[in-house]
Amino acid sequence: MVSASRPRLLIATSNPGKLVEMRELLAETPWEIVGLPSDAPDFEETGLTFAENARDKALYRSLLTDVPVVADDSGLVIDALGGEPGVHSARYLDPDMAQGDRNRAVLTKLAGLAPEERTARFICHLVLAYRGEIVHETEGTCEGRIAEEERGRTGFGYDPIFLVPELELTFAEISPAEKDARSHRGEAARALASFLPDWRP
Ligand code: IMP
Repeated sequence: MVSASRPRLLIATSNPGKLVEMRELLAETPWEIVGLPSDAPDFEETGLTFAENARDKALYRSLLTDVPVVADDSGLVIDALGGEPGVHSARYLDPDMAQGDRNRAVLTKLAGLAPEERTARFICHLVLAYRGEIVHETEGTCEGRIAEEERGRTGFGYDPIFLVPELELTFAEISPAEKDARSHRGEAARALASFLPDWRP
């Protein structure tokens, strides 16, 4: 049972996949992890970097609540596409596209490229903000390669086309715990988790 005295930490995302991962990654901290209410207003991301977007999101949400806020801005950077989709990952090519179609469109763009030309990385920037002030920031990166075809069923987003080279498996073919241990979000969240015990609102 969740104790009423646990301080709450709002994860400012409407992406259920990110929320599940953040809950798991911050499970050992004293904080009760809560998500955005379903009627929370959308936030338009206009920054040119993950850091900028995460800061903007965190500050915006932190002015609407008394609870400390963590915002995640993350995405996939593909070298052969000049860094795209990057900060446009969530809405790349067509905002109304189903993610499966988006993944297949990326594979089509990379058709014919050799494995060494398919290098990519996930980046996650986390910002903790409280009442309009930034408290702490962390960033995690996970290097990998774009697969030749979609593989696996776990995870979300680009997971089925992101290969972890040392495993030769995609993020969608490994367990959530294995993904957390290697992922960009795992790295950034562990750094945040090591800061949180020393901080109180
Ligand atoms: P945003 O941070 O809300 O702008 O969205 C980031 C987008 O990047 C997500 O909608 C996903 O498409 C993608 N993304 C970020 N992290 C992951 C991940 O761990 N796996 C797969 N896709 C991800």
